Amino acid sequence: MSTSFGPVLGIETSCDDTAAAVVCDGVVLGAAIASQIPIHRRFGGVVPEVAARNHLLTVLPTIEDALQQADIGPDQLAGLAVTNRPGLIGALLVGVQTAKALAYTWRKPIVGVDHIAAHLWAGQLRPTDQAGPDWPKPKLPFAALAVSGGHTSLYVVRGPDDLVLLGRTLDDAAGEAFDKFGKQLGLPYPAGPEVDQLAVLGDPTRFKLPRGMLGRADGAYSFSGLKTAIRLQIEALGQTGPTAVSDALPDLCASFQAAVVEQLVRVTLDSLRRHKQRQLVLAGGVAANLGLRTALAIHCAKHRVQFWPVPLAYCGDNAAMVAGLGAALLAQGQRDDLFTLDAIATGAVRRAALLPAPGSP
Ligand code: KG4
Ligand code: ZN
Repeated sequence: MSTSFGPVLGIETSCDDTAAAVVCDGVVLGAAIASQIPIHRRFGGVVPEVAARNHLLTVLPTIEDALQQADIGPDQLAGLAVTNRPGLIGALLVGVQTAKALAYTWRKPIVGVDHIAAHLWAGQLRPTDQAGPDWPKPKLPFAALAVSGGHTSLYVVRGPDDLVLLGRTLDDAAGEAFDKFGKQLGLPYPAGPEVDQLAVLGDPTRFKLPRGMLGRADGAYSFSGLKTAIRLQIEALGQTGPTAVSDALPDLCASFQAAVVEQLVRVTLDSLRRHKQRQLVLAGGVAANLGLRTALAIHCAKHRVQFWPVPLAYCGDNAAMVAGLGAALLAQGQRDDLFTLDAIATGAVRRAALLPAPGSP
């Protein structure tokens, strides 16, 4: 399959990051992000209307920044790609309408991209300083675990628009679990990165926590039992003294992270074995987690699975993944109609189906 298409401008506004990037043949020529985290932090989470209004302010300067970094003008672009699903509807609309207006003005083809499919495709990206013909990357088909604030799903990626779901969370997403746990401890939103840093300093065995859904044939993940268990332990600890919880912060983070990581590793490797997959891409915001990257690297090596953690720069929401997947879709002839391309708030990954495990009824 050829993914060579020429430079593609990607636009991402599905949540709280306004991002634009130019990608050509998997090489990221320019990438800009205007993060809204400081704006939403005081609310303890993303406020959808505030996110949409801020995207409006930042989307054009961010696109200009990405084009400038790539040192190319609109006339040199081969096409545009924009995240049009799933996400916050007002936030998505800003990106979609902007992309449509630019595609119309610049007379370029446009394609709408699924946010999760884009995360899964991020293992194909590389920065300009590491570009070269021999740069290793996952080869189709590959398994890919999307762990983000909204998703915990394992897929087989058979092509840029051909995904098969192997398993997903029955309740919270991994990132959501990190964020809710951190909020309880008074850590600023989003808590995942800080929990990760504190976990390095703590004892992961101090607090005994459940590991969730292990050994199920449907590859399901679950974090709600863990969420309740850690809440009860924090409450009990709080009763023992005014500084007991803050004193135990590193141990709490290490114990919680170990429980999340162990479940992700065991369920994922179990699914890979059942579905005979020999490559694993780790994608999404939580893919930046050091404990998870390390544990998966060790266990994948043990089980002879080739492990492809997405480069840190492309784990969290970014537009390089959108441009990269968009280029692959455009290269195989996909186009969206300028007048009917629309934002879709919900919706599963297009054409994804749940693949039964071999031998299951
Ligand atoms: O992919 P992403 O940027 O946005 C969504 O599509 O949701 O993921 C954001 C999520 C947040 O929940 C954040 O706390 C989590 O990723 N996250 C982390 C780490 N870095 C970001 N979770 C654990 N460890 C990290 N190092
Ligand atoms: Zn995301």
